[in-house]
Amino acid sequence: MKKTVFPNDFLWGGAIAANQIEGAWNEDGKTIGLSDLFIYNKDKDNTKLHASDMTSQQVEFAKNDKHGYYPKRHGIDFYHTYKSDLKYLKEMGFKTLRISINWARIYPTIDTTKPNELGLKFYDDLINEIIKNGMEPIITILHYEIPLYITEQLGGWENKKTIALYEVFAKTILDRYHDRVRYWIPINQINLVHIEPFISIGTCIDKTDNYELSKFQGVHNQMVASALVKKYAKQQKFNIKIGSMLADLTAYPENAHPDNILLALKHNRLNYFYTDVQFRGEYPGYINRYFADNDLTIEVSEQEKTLLKDNTLDFLAVSYYFSQMVSVDQSREFSTSYASSKKNPFIDATPWGWAIDSKGLYNCLSCYWDRYQKPILIAENGLGMHDKLINETVNDDYRITYLKAHLIAINECLKDGVDVFGFCAWGPIDLVSASTQEMEKRYGFVFVDINNTGEGSKKRYRKQSFHWYKKVIATNGKSLGE
Ligand code: BG6
Repeated sequence: MKKTVFPNDFLWGGAIAANQIEGAWNEDGKTIGLSDLFIYNKDKDNTKLHASDMTSQQVEFAKNDKHGYYPKRHGIDFYHTYKSDLKYLKEMGFKTLRISINWARIYPTIDTTKPNELGLKFYDDLINEIIKNGMEPIITILHYEIPLYITEQLGGWENKKTIALYEVFAKTILDRYHDRVRYWIPINQINLVHIEPFISIGTCIDKTDNYELSKFQGVHNQMVASALVKKYAKQQKFNIKIGSMLADLTAYPENAHPDNILLALKHNRLNYFYTDVQFRGEYPGYINRYFADNDLTIEVSEQEKTLLKDNTLDFLAVSYYFSQMVSVDQSREFSTSYASSKKNPFIDATPWGWAIDSKGLYNCLSCYWDRYQKPILIAENGLGMHDKLINETVNDDYRITYLKAHLIAINECLKDGVDVFGFCAWGPIDLVSASTQEMEKRYGFVFVDINNTGEGSKKRYRKQSFHWYKKVIATNGKSLGE
């Protein structure tokens, strides 16, 4: 019997993103966003990451294509079904639901003189409905929902004008929803810029002379924008907390060879770079050296430096799915990509190659806590799998095993005194995969009958994990020790 120590006000719940669930991609004034440009191609190996780079020709093609299936344009039609969908989450006893706001619903064009009232109203209703169902909404301001006009007219986040547009968007939604939402995350997984550059910063690969520089400049501008959100919240005396979000990329060294130890150190520093800036308020020496060694000159003004220093963020949001292992045999010296991650022979992986490692969660949370002592929200965790609907349910004991092990790892951190204040299971109701565009890479407690090409009854079914998670929440985690 394991003793569980989840605090009484622990935020049990789930996380979704507008672009992967809402559908209604061109309704009520919304214009096209970058995530709407990814096609599902059934002839490709969909286990590989597709959403990484795009050329302006590919963008143009997708924008005008009338034949292909673009899953994120449809999601699970949550835009129209959210009221009945939220009932399932209520039934499980969710205390929180992390959502995102689709930027192109609020400002459908580059003209920021007036927001789209229909878009604001949708999120008003959604937030009220979440609260009505007993959950606290958490908002991600930008979760891969860059409007296409940012890419086409400004070239993405590397352009400083994007900061100003984001600021208007962020202030509009902060003004409107701050009284109902305590926790805000300005940018989803800010550190994934090197893995999913296009949906992170919106720069087409053919529109830059130095892609590496565009990525670092884009992410610098996102950190400035995040500091502006914090500054505004302080100025307005909003009673809210602003978080920095990382997708955990902590890596183990392949072995005790000093070169591998140092490689892992350098790899992990790149993971910490973003939170080092957002929590400590300045660029660390190791990254300045990296920029110098690689002839990367990022435009950072004195004013921006002061802004970052004066507006550090309040909590750490972490999404955790897998651990990584690096080896000098496979890596560039300062590794920034999944490609550098070697298969760890001690750990099983999912069909998508994601290493299943609950100890890696204990490891990374402990490292973050030791480094920052900031409250931690598990903003995402879960197991994407092919599920089989049999007799109106899915026997997803593999998902239960995965989640149980990860929750026990969190419990171990809590015992160490790590301040983890919530757990958001990713995609509690099935939704479209961010990286592969598959509907059939499922994470949910609720099965949605839609396949990869959009066919299906759209009916919802409770999986076995639904009943399991309900009990975990009802017992405040105690059932994990049974
Ligand atoms: C996170 C993203 O990286 O991983 C989510 O924030 C995403 O948007 C999740 O869905 C799982 O990844 P995937 O590619 O399996 O959907």
